[in-house]
Amino acid sequence: MKEKFLEIYRKNITRPGADKLLAWLETTDFFTAPASTRFHLSRPGGLVDHSVHVYERLDNLVTDEEGYPGSTFGEDFTISDETIAICGLLHDICKANFYTVEMRNRKNEQGQWEKYPFYVVDDQLPYGHGEKSVYIISGFMKLTREEAMAIRWHMGFSDTDFKGGGFSVGNAFGKFPLAVLTHIADLQATYLDEAEGE
Ligand SMILES: [Fe+2]
Ligand SMILES: [Fe+2]
Repeated sequence: MKEKFLEIYRKNITRPGADKLLAWLETTDFFTAPASTRFHLSRPGGLVDHSVHVYERLDNLVTDEEGYPGSTFGEDFTISDETIAICGLLHDICKANFYTVEMRNRKNEQGQWEKYPFYVVDDQLPYGHGEKSVYIISGFMKLTREEAMAIRWHMGFSDTDFKGGGFSVGNAFGKFPLAVLTHIADLQATYLDEAEGE
C-alpha cells in the first residue's frame, strides 16, 4: 500500500512544497503506523492503508458524473485530482509520530501469562486532530480554503470541538461540500472497507 500511496501522491500532488512534505513523511512512522490503537486497522501499515481507502472513496464521491447522489451540487461541482489526493491521503497525517508500542500481559490458551504488543497514544505534537493535519501540511505547502476545511472537519460530529459544544462543524459543512464528502469518505473507509475481519 505504501507504493500505491506514493504513486497517487506523486502523480497528483505537485504544488510547491509537495516534495518536501513527502520527504518529511518518510522520516516519520507514517508508513508503518496503525490507523488506530484498537478500532480499525490496528496493525503496522494500517494508517497508510486507511489513507488510500479514503482517497479512493473520495475520488468516487467527487468524480461521480451526476454529482454526489442526492446532492444539489450537480455537474458544476468540480474538485481537482490534486485536491482529492491531498484530502484523502493527508487527512490523518496528524497520526504520524502519534502511536507507540507497549508490552502488556495476558493469559494465553494454556492459561500461562504472556506478553503481547499493544498500541498506545504517545502524541509528539499535541495540536488536536484535523486541525493538526492542516497545521502540519501548511508548514510545507499551501492549502486552498476548501482543502483546509475538508481536512479540519473530516471527523464530522465526532470531532472534540462539537462534543465540547461547538457549532463550527455544521457551519463548515453548510459552506463547504468537500468537507461533507471527505467526512463521508472517511466513514466509508473506516466502517465499510476496514470492517473487522479484513
Ligand atoms: Fe481522522
Ligand atoms: Fe481517517
